Amino acid sequence: MIRFLLSVVSVAMVCPLASAGGLAADDAGAKATPIELFEQRIMPIFKSPKPSSCVQCHLSSVDLKDYILPSHEQTFVSLRDEGLIDVMNPDDSKILNLIAMGEKDLDKGAKLIHARTRRAEYQAFAAWIKACCSAPKIRDLPSLEGGNPAPARKPDTVIEFTRKNRVVDSFGRNVWSQRMRCFPCHTPHELDESNPKHEKAIARHKELEKKFGQRINIFRDSPETTLRHLMVSSRKPRPGRLPLINVADPAKSLLILKPTSKLPKKHADGKFEKPSYAEPVSHMGGLKMHVNDQSYKSFMAWIQDYSRVVGEQYASADDLPLDNWYPSMQVLRLKNAPESWEVLTGVQMVVHAWNDAEKSWSDDPVAFTQGTVTPQKTVNGALFLLAPANVDGQDAWDREGSTLPTGRYLVKIYVDTQGRLADDPAAFLTEPDYFGQATVEDPWKEGFRDAKLLDGALLQK
Ligand code: HEC
Ligand code: HEC
Repeated sequence: MIRFLLSVVSVAMVCPLASAGGLAADDAGAKATPIELFEQRIMPIFKSPKPSSCVQCHLSSVDLKDYILPSHEQTFVSLRDEGLIDVMNPDDSKILNLIAMGEKDLDKGAKLIHARTRRAEYQAFAAWIKACCSAPKIRDLPSLEGGNPAPARKPDTVIEFTRKNRVVDSFGRNVWSQRMRCFPCHTPHELDESNPKHEKAIARHKELEKKFGQRINIFRDSPETTLRHLMVSSRKPRPGRLPLINVADPAKSLLILKPTSKLPKKHADGKFEKPSYAEPVSHMGGLKMHVNDQSYKSFMAWIQDYSRVVGEQYASADDLPLDNWYPSMQVLRLKNAPESWEVLTGVQMVVHAWNDAEKSWSDDPVAFTQGTVTPQKTVNGALFLLAPANVDGQDAWDREGSTLPTGRYLVKIYVDTQGRLADDPAAFLTEPDYFGQATVEDPWKEGFRDAKLLDGALLQK
């Protein structure tokens, strides 16, 4: 260990990249020819069934193998012509910078896990590139006829969209943000010993933990740790139990089936039957979420997206869903829902902002919520704010605690009478589902008690 550290330090003094990234070319290949280096060090990466170090940050869509062609000369020419090899400054080649990216990861654990693979990849490519660039016969090879034969790689937009960070961020906004609906049973980190109001909840949670073990703690201390728990738990199929996240069939994920299911049946003696983890699912917490309410929509949107990421189902920018929703505590409540709306029908309430300069309502919605018609003929939902499409979401809104700016708003109501949400729970309803609209004004405080009220009987067409 110490020897390794020392050797890195000594190289770092002469190699600027090494000092920046902790990676360095080695001398092992100094005498080997480019083709030997390719066969001995690059081909094993190409043929390895193991993913490359890129998985540290990219859940799918990209692998170092995607940059290698079976022929040594073709690989060099295609990388050179794509600008990924810098023949004048081989150490500055972009392909090396891509491999070195893992060094910059703030997640020290992930960085360490992939350190060995990354170092082997870096050294292999650095040695081979250097050897190629100092051999004029290879360096100056003509471009390949019929264009670049580089393997079909996914577009950069897809590669960026399927990054782990983006998926974790989305998980935070769509799933983690809804966790208080699962309080206190699944939220150990929201329980506060110093809060007298939590006393009962703490006792209840303790009991559940004793009975069901750690799996009752679905929501861990951060979106990252929560997601890790869900992923690890879902990896191995278990007989008689659906996975928490079901990438093969997102709607059949326990994460969504449990809270939308009722309590188990009771035995003759009044005790509950064992809860079921296969269809039909039952939930010892009882019904905590309605199919097609706002959290169902955001859970499903995230599970679908995640499944498509890990299933390599995004091929082009057109396949990517919008991922610009931010949870808020501002609530819309529609009462006196028209008789024609059946109980449990999904209703979307889409908010447009008044633009005073243009004296018109914004074309693009600024927020939405979704709820189902209750037996009392109301529809409730907390808003998800929509970051403008051309702005990086993170800059547009704070994470938690976002609110709509003070102003006048138009709420358009869409009713899912055609059952479109059953096929696509993440969908936005369109003109054929439009029912009517109403305007709302300030003040609009947070929380269900201060919900903005709409009267279903007074909606305008
Ligand atoms: C430490 C995390 C990390 C690792 C490891 C990583 N990347 Fe990336 N990658 C990123 C980030 C972050 C972006 C988005 C960059 C941006 O938006 O500017 C990105 C974007 C990309 C892009 C899109 C084009 C671009 O340059 O923005 C490509 C291609 C890419 N990475 C390839 C790779 C390859 C190949 C590997 C493995 C050899 C790799 N990455 C390893 C974090 C990483
Ligand atoms: C009042 C307590 C309570 C609330 C609130 C509650 N649950 Fe549960 N949940 C339970 C209990 C008890 C179990 C264990 C027995 C079972 O599987 O039904 C459980 C089990 C689960 C499981 C299976 C966990 C596993 O790995 O075995 C999932 C998933 C789940 N609940 C999701 C949710 C979600 C999501 C919410 C919030 C929207 C929620 N529950 C709200 C009590 C609750």
